[in-house]
Amino acid sequence: MTHRDLADSARRAAQNAYAPYSHFRVGAVAEAEDGSVYEGVNVENAAYPSGVCAEASAIVAAVTAGHRKLRSVAVACIDATSLDDSYPCGQCRQRMHEFGVGEVIVSTAEGDIRVHRLSELLPHGFRLAR
Ligand code: THU
Repeated sequence: MTHRDLADSARRAAQNAYAPYSHFRVGAVAEAEDGSVYEGVNVENAAYPSGVCAEASAIVAAVTAGHRKLRSVAVACIDATSLDDSYPCGQCRQRMHEFGVGEVIVSTAEGDIRVHRLSELLPHGFRLAR
């Protein structure tokens, strides 16, 4: 999928976000090496730390389908007012690192897009030396 298509899918998915506490709806799409795509949304909880990020949901869906290598992750924050408020959190950057994500596509409800290498957003991500 193109960057634009991935961002559009993430934005559509964000409509299903469950964010009654933050009112900050996020959608994500994880694209596997074979081009298949997996959507995710943030799912909050009354016990706040039990909430899950959209990127985590999408990565879990891709891994559940058997993928271990991901090409890209697109994220769309449809309640963010600017691209600068739409970047993945640190934990999600590390989750992307685990599965070798190359590109991260950040977008807003207005359709603004920025594309980054994950290595720009998370230099020296953690790996277990074994
Ligand atoms: N959120 C995500 O889904 N992804 C991120 O990378 C940052 C934050 C969610 C978590 C919470 O439901 C809401 O946005 C506000 O933090």
